[in-house]
Amino acid sequence: MATVSLRSRFEQDTTRFDRLSWSVAGLTVDLSKQHLDDETLPLLLDLAEAMDVEGQRAGLFAGDKVNVTEDRAALHVALRDPTDRSYVVDGEDVSVQLKYARGRMLAFAGHVVDGQRTGHTGERFDRVINIGIGGSDLGPRCAVTALADHAVSELAVEFVATVDGVALEDALAAATPERTLFIVCSKSFTTRETMTNADHAKRWLIDALGEAGVADHFVAVTAEPPVAIEFGITDDAIFPLWDWVGGRYSLCSAIGLSLALACGPQIFQRVLAGAHAMDQHFEMAPLAENVPVLMALLSIWNQDFWNTTALAVLPYDHRLRLLPAHFQQLMMESNGKGVRVDGGDVSFRTAPIVFGGSGAESQHSFMQQIHQSPKVVPVEFIVALDGQGEGDRDILVANAFAQSEALMRGLTSDEIPQNSGKNLVPHKACPGNRQSTTILLESLTPETFGALIALYEHRTFVEGTLWGLNSFDQWGVEFGKALASRLLSDLAVGRADAGHDSSTAGLLNAYLAQRPKTPS
Ligand code: F6P
Repeated sequence: MATVSLRSRFEQDTTRFDRLSWSVAGLTVDLSKQHLDDETLPLLLDLAEAMDVEGQRAGLFAGDKVNVTEDRAALHVALRDPTDRSYVVDGEDVSVQLKYARGRMLAFAGHVVDGQRTGHTGERFDRVINIGIGGSDLGPRCAVTALADHAVSELAVEFVATVDGVALEDALAAATPERTLFIVCSKSFTTRETMTNADHAKRWLIDALGEAGVADHFVAVTAEPPVAIEFGITDDAIFPLWDWVGGRYSLCSAIGLSLALACGPQIFQRVLAGAHAMDQHFEMAPLAENVPVLMALLSIWNQDFWNTTALAVLPYDHRLRLLPAHFQQLMMESNGKGVRVDGGDVSFRTAPIVFGGSGAESQHSFMQQIHQSPKVVPVEFIVALDGQGEGDRDILVANAFAQSEALMRGLTSDEIPQNSGKNLVPHKACPGNRQSTTILLESLTPETFGALIALYEHRTFVEGTLWGLNSFDQWGVEFGKALASRLLSDLAVGRADAGHDSSTAGLLNAYLAQRPKTPS
């Protein structure tokens, strides 16, 4: 394979694009610029068979405890299934409670949007502040941004995730207490960053409206209702999550409440419909025509055979600019692991380092490296073919396709005009033969957005299956949290514990020396 360039493959086969592109749920996925010959996919499909991808897929949809270490199912597909299909968890058909919860959440969103649900003083809400982090922030934030064309104008929807105070202060500075609705988005309702921000927001609201205002201005999306009630949120303002939905897979649950508020319940339901269309494709299509499966197999092909270590996700559409951050958590928190489901060490390098950004802007930042570095980075271009202003769209689309072509073709020395002066040829040459995938959205609609989200959820699950991982736990984040608690205890007493290494102690002391003295 390494001796046959992609360029020559295209020169020898004019049907390559037609043979290696697939259209599903409003997306066209072009895999023809990946290192594929007639043998590659059949061999990779053998790997899928050997790793029982079909069996694992069936288990996912059947509500099996695919999240082995936490003994949980991962039923994000149930969140968006409009049919009467049963989804059984621990012997109970949860599809009824799911639909009830979805209905409650959408009704609430509708009442806020149409002014039936108002604040403590009877005024309509004009601002929603979503307080959450990780999967309780990235997915909804990305969705609200991507579908801003569908926003209902009265509500400004903002997101606060980080805990340095500035993000929340900025959001509160622009907010009117009487007209602000807070969503505390937290599956555990214990995440330190989220609860710190939520407590600060509550104090801000109580200062303006008194304790009685909390119940009218706070709602919770959580798997822990009792903790939310303790916080001061009433039962009717709590929208449930379940432990069989992973945080980074939860956009189609009430975690997406901010989207339903920003764009209205109907748009939210259209996102569900798009995601469900991709779910149906993933569940039913033969593996050889199954786009999530093919994209996952190419991840293994690139990571473990072509020895790449990263993956760039480049949306060429301002509306999709937050997609890389969401996919980064989805893929790296799911499969950035070194131990197999059975506890043994993995024999692969597992998830790529996923990064990205707005494609047009990336061309003026890191694309230099992707074209000429010895390190090859596969790219996934995401291009919406609709959009504002013909001129702008032509520039965007032409650049996206040109980047993909340049990576594939390269620029050889004999294609570079010889200058009379310095020999710049070696500096201008581009090695090429660099693989990429291009995903075309015929139009960025709620449906195609939902399908795109589901596509990446399923390719992530299949990659984890192929690497033998559990894609639904995240034990690696616990250790840092525990150490942070220990350091917070030191900061509470104003002294670094003697047990720290000299770096941690030195850093703590540097901070303590600068920390504003708390008022006596
Ligand atoms: O990063 C760890 C994590 O648990 C993520 O998986 C999750 O999306 C995020 O923190 C927030 O968790 P919660 O929704 O429980 O606040």
